[in-house]
Amino acid sequence: MMRLDRFLCETGFGTRSQVKDLVKKGLVTVNRTVAGKPEQKVDEARDTVICNGKKAVYAKFVYIMLHKPAGYVSATSDSREQTVLDLLCKELQKGIFPVGRLDKDTEGLLLLTDDGDLAHLLLSPKRHVDKTYYAQIEGCVTEEHVKRFWEGIEIGEKKETLPSKLQILKSAAVSEIKVTIQEGKYHQIKRMFEAVGCKVLYLKRLSMGTLELDQALKAGEYRALTEEEIKSLKQLTGQQI
Ligand code: URA
Repeated sequence: MMRLDRFLCETGFGTRSQVKDLVKKGLVTVNRTVAGKPEQKVDEARDTVICNGKKAVYAKFVYIMLHKPAGYVSATSDSREQTVLDLLCKELQKGIFPVGRLDKDTEGLLLLTDDGDLAHLLLSPKRHVDKTYYAQIEGCVTEEHVKRFWEGIEIGEKKETLPSKLQILKSAAVSEIKVTIQEGKYHQIKRMFEAVGCKVLYLKRLSMGTLELDQALKAGEYRALTEEEIKSLKQLTGQQI
């Protein structure tokens, strides 16, 4: 048995004060009865807890979708910088780590989990898991760039980058694009644009594999993955469900 507010924190519904607020607003039910108090006890294995219309599932692993804001490093600890873990409630911080890295100034989708196997499979260079980004670019992005991104770009690695799908949303002095890459090399997108004489001004990750950034999440907000999202990621990596 554990306190309801703790249970909601650990299953990814927000910070202690946010989940207390949800309980006070009558948005949480335990076995179909509206929860009265954040401190009431629940049986995490047996009780059915619904928060804001979503089932809170106490699973073996935690999977969190974070809308990373700029200004945080993708690490579990840092002596000088704020890390993405600082954005999560204390109850969630134990054992959880970001799956891959976004640069400090990059925003968008970041998956955090304590499931090492899934993280390893998603990051494996062999699996070529697609990552799609939106970016604003200093310089006029043209069809020639689309061709070059598809053919592979020399960024100072042993091999050229794998084919990347570049889509032009706006071609101007400051262009807007979407790009899908299959790898996750250090500063990859910035280096690819630099190699073709352009500069990334703003970068935001929209998706990773089957997982898409929830448009309802503002920068700095997070939520637990749904069972469907977890299932799709596991299917993508060929894991047993
Ligand atoms: N490519 C970059 O250059 N930076 C990121 O944060 C992610 C991909």
